[in-house]
Amino acid sequence: MSTSTASTASTTSTASTASTTVGIHDLSFATTEFVLPHTALAEYNGTEIGKYHVGIGQQSMSVPAADEDIVTLGAAAAAPIVARHGADGIRTLVFATESSIDQAKAAGVYVHSLLGLPSATRVVELKQACYGATAALQFAIGLIHRDPSQKVLVVASDVSKYELDSPGEATQGAAAVAMLVSADPALVRIEDPSGLFTADVMDFWRPNYRDAALVDGQESIGAYLQAVQGTWKDYSEQGGRPLEAFSAFCYHQPFTKMAYKAHRHLLNSAGHDTDETAVKQALGLTTAYNAVIGNSYTASVYLGLAALLDQAEDLTGQPVGFLSYGSGSVAEFFAGTVVPGYREHLRTAEHRTAIERRQAIGYDRYRALHERTLPTDGSDHATPAETTGPFRLAGISGHKRLYEKR
Ligand code: HMG
Repeated sequence: MSTSTASTASTTSTASTASTTVGIHDLSFATTEFVLPHTALAEYNGTEIGKYHVGIGQQSMSVPAADEDIVTLGAAAAAPIVARHGADGIRTLVFATESSIDQAKAAGVYVHSLLGLPSATRVVELKQACYGATAALQFAIGLIHRDPSQKVLVVASDVSKYELDSPGEATQGAAAVAMLVSADPALVRIEDPSGLFTADVMDFWRPNYRDAALVDGQESIGAYLQAVQGTWKDYSEQGGRPLEAFSAFCYHQPFTKMAYKAHRHLLNSAGHDTDETAVKQALGLTTAYNAVIGNSYTASVYLGLAALLDQAEDLTGQPVGFLSYGSGSVAEFFAGTVVPGYREHLRTAEHRTAIERRQAIGYDRYRALHERTLPTDGSDHATPAETTGPFRLAGISGHKRLYEKR
């Protein structure tokens, strides 16, 4: 290869400059077949419904069918993105989850197969509690700065499971968000800088031998608030925007009231008044999907973004603040600016359908689904066909999960 050809090739593959804008080009989410209204849980355990509806701000929780898991949800979220844009240019799929189904194989490899993506793809799974999808987004942005012709498919998929009859039970949920990250994005440009915060705390964790998470509820709320303050301090020190520049804030929402607690804490710690009308205005639209889906862990903050974009009048050119928190704990505060013309690219009708199509179940059915476990002895097991979604977990055989595409 001549010197001049080599230098042209190198210019093309490192074409990114400081002016390359990178961000979320498309966003789609999927949730489960079933939904449990909080009224049913309250009736069973004798809780005053105001505690759920007002105290934690939750109306219902998505419940996976026996043949749904993080793979089927992730594939269902991502399939419309591949249908709209094709697979060209997608050279990386990052799957973020904390409800992993395998200690070695990335769940994204199953999604890659179900979606028929090309073999020339890099697939990896990322984990840090609910923060994983933001790490995936930043990983994607770095890759695209290196080669702006590439796109990265980020899939955040989780099933949140706490012990039955525990305080955490009311904050369960399940969903997947898929985002196509690219140069010149159609929805949201993600900005530098980011505010970062890590602290070694045991507020919420799930040892490898457990299905359900362990949590110290009140400690977890305190750890989240401490992280909000820490990320904002770092964001400001890195030269970020002032607080008043943001038109809305998307918080990680383990339950929607947590976003309100977090935002008030941010305002107070930054020396601002907490005007409740302004707080409601900054957060109100971001909670609509999380209030009826429940905690979707890694997907939660991006469900907040979906709800905001789908419902706001017009956010063109507006900066939105993102606060991603993952127990344990790692958090990041960053900003995104909404791109002109974004409304033509939204999936509002499909998102409403994903929520409205869920079949309401009673407490007994939910409890039976919660108690179900897959065999661990390698025997053949066919899962009951319950989901009507595009992908299903057909069973398990020889310790291998078997997926089906409809
Ligand atoms: P709890 O102890 O059952 O509830 O658990 P409570 O007594 O704290 O009450 C909750 C709120 O309801 C309170 O409001 C009550 O006053 C109110 P607050 O004082 O907080 O403003 N209340 C009522 N309101 C109206 N009418 C009534 C009524 N009764 C009470 N009748 C807790 C609550 C969230 C701790 C529990 O559900 C839990 O442990 N959840 C799981 C942990 C969690 O979600 N933590 C959040 C921060 S950590 C995080 O976000 C990370 C996470 O997503 C995991 C990850 O990163 O991977 C969890």
